[in-house]
Order: sequence, then structure tokens, then C-alpha cells
Amino acid sequence: MNFYIMTLFPEMVENGLNNSILKRAVEKGCIHFEAVNIRDYTLDKHKKVDDYPFGGGAGMLMQAQPVWDCYQAILGRIPNTTEGDGEGKPRVLYMSPQGRTFNQEMARELSREKDIIFLCGHYEGIDQRVLDRMEVEEVSIGDYVLTGGELPAMVMIDTISRLVPGVLHNDCSSVEESFSGNLLEYPQYTRPEEWDGMKVPEVLLSGHHKNIEKWRTERALENTRRKRPDLLDKGNDSE
Ligand code: ADE
Repeated sequence: MNFYIMTLFPEMVENGLNNSILKRAVEKGCIHFEAVNIRDYTLDKHKKVDDYPFGGGAGMLMQAQPVWDCYQAILGRIPNTTEGDGEGKPRVLYMSPQGRTFNQEMARELSREKDIIFLCGHYEGIDQRVLDRMEVEEVSIGDYVLTGGELPAMVMIDTISRLVPGVLHNDCSSVEESFSGNLLEYPQYTRPEEWDGMKVPEVLLSGHHKNIEKWRTERALENTRRKRPDLLDKGNDSE
């Protein structure tokens, strides 16, 4: 799976993603990401990428030309891409607080794509004409406003990557945890059996798999009821 991140701060994205599990996934060839600097594509001799909004208003806007040329360069690097006719055109996600809110279901759906382009805005936004031309899908990571799209893109790439086969050690573990089947996870314990006077629940030491499974389902339901009752309204696979 290939992620292309259009940004004015490529080091921020590279430093944020090239660690731990994702770094290993890149080395294994499960995922590939490329942060592309929009500024490299400006035709302005001072390397400027922003200007004042027509009609007035606060702040600056990213201009259409460098964004479009950067996008074209990325498309040129993706095999079998025919921009414009829909066939083989990668999804372009524009990080924006005005977008559809990202969630686990969207992550699952996106993890089946081959190539995804993330467009990270800065300043007060991006000239609408290039957003229209690129047919972006606006995606938000929550109802708050960040200074740029880089952190949202990293949040999404991290979430999507761990659903790509082979990225996690155990391919099953991503299926069994929080938000799968709309249930939160059950509590987990590791050694020692007793820590500071606190014991691990007896059933987990019993070796009785049926009882352990029953206990875990009950705790998951209890956890969800207490912390996120809204998830139960959506229905779940375990009930
Ligand atoms: N850019 C600024 N705030 C954002 C948010 N909440 N989600 C996605 N992109 C953003």
C-alpha cells in the first residue's frame, strides 16, 4: 500500500511515521510512504506558495499552481494512473476540519486501496479551484482545528497501516481489539500474577479457554457500557 503525502513540511511527516511498527512495515515492504514537498513545485522565483485571499479576509491561502503541479508529479509516479477518467485514479484525501469524520470503518475501507494521496493544507486553506480540479474528498479527524493537515494525515496513515496485512506481528490482533464489532477491548494483564497487592483475575490463570472467552466478552460489554454506551446503540457482532 502506497501513501503519498503532499505537504509543506515533509520532514515532519517522515519523522512522525518512520518509527517502530510502521518503520518495520516499510522495511518489510508492506507499506511505502513518500512525503512530497509542495514548495518544490512552485514556479515563483522566491519559492512562494501562498497569497492573499481575493475579497479580503484573514491570513493567506495556498495557491493552486504548486499544489496542482505537485499532484501531477505524484500521478506520474504511480503506474497505471489515468487522471480524470476515474479508472485507476487514486483517492485524494484533503485534510480539513470541514470533512467527513474519520473512523475505524473508514480506515478499514481505505486499507483496501493500493495508493492514497493525502493533501495537507496550511495557512487559511487552499484555493478552491485546485481542490475542485483534483476532486478531493475532505476528511476531518475530529471537531477541533489544527494548524495544518500533517498531524491528521499521520493519524490516518497510522490507523490504516495497521490494518494492512502483514503490518502487525499477529494478523488477528487488529481484528480483536477496540472498535471491532463496536465493542471496546477487555482488560489485559501480564506478569507478575500479583503486583503491589493486586491480583490478576483468577479465571485468566485457569487455562479454561471457554471460561476465559466468556469472561472477556462480559468485561468487553461492561467496558463499553461504562465508557462508550453510544457504540452499543450501533449493534455489535458479539451479541
Ligand atoms: N486541519 C485542521 N484541522 C483539521 C482536522 N480537525 N482534521 C483534519 N484536518 C485538519
